[in-house]
Amino acid sequence: METAPLIDPFQRAISYLRVSVTDRCDFRCVYCMSENMTFLPKKELLSLEELDRMCSTFIRLGVEKLRITGGEPLVRRDIMTFLRSMSRHLERGALKELTVSTNGSQLARFADDLYAAGVRRINVSLDTLDEDKFARVTRWGRLPQVMKGIDAALAAGLRVKINTVALKGFNEDELFTLVEWCASRDIDLTFIEVMPMGDLGGEDRIGQYWSLKDLRVELSKQFTLTELSHRTGGPARYVRLEETGQQIGFITPLSHNFCESCNRVRLTCTGELFMCLGQEDNADLRTALRANPDSDAVLEDAIRAAIRLKPKGHDFDYSRQEANGQVSRHMSHTGG
Ligand code: GTP
Ligand code: 5AD
Ligand code: SF4
Repeated sequence: METAPLIDPFQRAISYLRVSVTDRCDFRCVYCMSENMTFLPKKELLSLEELDRMCSTFIRLGVEKLRITGGEPLVRRDIMTFLRSMSRHLERGALKELTVSTNGSQLARFADDLYAAGVRRINVSLDTLDEDKFARVTRWGRLPQVMKGIDAALAAGLRVKINTVALKGFNEDELFTLVEWCASRDIDLTFIEVMPMGDLGGEDRIGQYWSLKDLRVELSKQFTLTELSHRTGGPARYVRLEETGQQIGFITPLSHNFCESCNRVRLTCTGELFMCLGQEDNADLRTALRANPDSDAVLEDAIRAAIRLKPKGHDFDYSRQEANGQVSRHMSHTGG
C-alpha cells in the first residue's frame, strides 16, 4: 500500500528525522548545559526496541535521513545495537543516510563499528583547538581524547564534519587556525550561530553571539569565497574557499532564517516529537507507540497529526540587545 508522504501546513516535505537517544552527556558545554544537570530517570527513556519502532515508522512515512544525536549519543548503552538494526533500512534503500552528531569523546572506541553499521559521515562538535579553552568551554571534556576520536573516525573511512559554535571573544581568534586545521585533514567545517536555549544556571556565557555575516567578512579577507548550491539535507549553506578547495558551511538561525526550507523534526529520548528546535510545540508519541504493541496505525496517525502542527519557524532574535525567542529546554533535550 502506498503511504502519503509527510507534508506540513507550509508544504514542506518532512524527510529528515533527528533522534536524541539520550539526554546525558559526558561533557558540560557552557552554552548547552549547566554544570549540575538533572537527567531523566532511565525508566523514562524509550527502549532500543521502541526507538527502532519509532524510526522504522518514520521511514515508512518517507523519512530518508536519520541523524542520531543526544546529549552524547555514544554514551547510551548498547547504542550500536540500535544503529546496526537501522542499517537494514539503508540496505533496502528506504533510508538514504544514517548519521551521527557527536562530541567525539567515544569515537576511538566506536568509529569502526559506526562504519560497519553503514554510517559514512559524522558531525563532531569542536569549538577550539586550544586545550585550555577546550576544557573551559566543555568543562568536562579533554581535547586529546577528541583528537584521538577524530583520527579514529578518519582511519575508519568516515567523512568528518566539524561543527563549531561561533563565539565572540572565544574562538574569533581561531577562525583561520580552524580552517587550516580542517583543510590539512580534508575535514569539512560548519559554523553555527549560538542560539538562546536552556537555563544555563545564571553563569557567565563564554563569549557571545558572533554573527556569521561578520565571520564571512573575516574569512573573505584571506580567501575567495564561492557560493555552492548543493545541500547536505541540513540547514547549512556552503561556500568553497578557492585557495584550498575546502568547503565551509554556515548555519545561521539568527542572521538568516532558513526555516522556509525546513525538512526535519526531532524525536527526544522519551518519545516527544518536537516540530521545531526553537518552539515549544511537541507531541507525545510514546503513548501512541505503547497504545498498541502489535500495530503502528495509532503511531502513524499521531505522527501525521503532529506534522500538521509544525510551526512556520523559530523566533530566535538578538536584535534588541537581548535574547528573544528563547526556549527553556536545553539543546541536549532536543538534540541540536
Ligand atoms: P548535515 O547533514 O551535515 O547537513 O547536518 P545538520 O547540519 O543537519 O546537522 P548537525 O547535527 O550538524 O546540526 C548542526 C546544528 O545546526 C544543530 O546542532 C543545531 O544547532 C543547528 N540546527 C540544525 N537544524 C536546525 C533547525 O532546524 N533549526 C535551528 N534553529 N537550528 C538547527
Ligand atoms: N546554540 C548553537 N549550537 C549549540 N549546540 C549546543 N548548544 C547550542 C546553542 N545554544 C551545538 C553543539 C553541537 C550541536 C549538536 O549543537 O555545539 O555542535
Ligand atoms: Fe554535550 Fe553536545 Fe551539549 Fe556539549 S553541546 S554538553 S557535547 S550535548
